Amino acid sequence: MGWHEVAGADALRDGEAIGVTVDGHPIALCRSGGELHALHNMCTHQFALLSDGYVEDGCIECPLHQGRFDLRTGAPLCAPVTEPVRIYAVKTEDGKVYVELGD
Ligand code: FES
Repeated sequence: MGWHEVAGADALRDGEAIGVTVDGHPIALCRSGGELHALHNMCTHQFALLSDGYVEDGCIECPLHQGRFDLRTGAPLCAPVTEPVRIYAVKTEDGKVYVELGD
């Protein structure tokens, strides 16, 4: 599936998330502590876009019931979320952000 360009490297300030779609996959692109992260944009609890949530201290908080996920691993950190969210590899090259969809 390879790497896909999703945004300019300066598209995100720290603590910000945006939603992008890559080959039909909804992805939340976030920046926290200067690092970029990419994860599936759908909460594993119910229907909510994580890109509408809050990014803080390496976590993203779902806007609907405030479940939180670790941005590095996708692991659920507090109720009501119990299932991890898929994460994607992300890199910056020549001023552009790329996400790898994987298999
Ligand atoms: S929909 Fe995300 S915590 Fe409920």
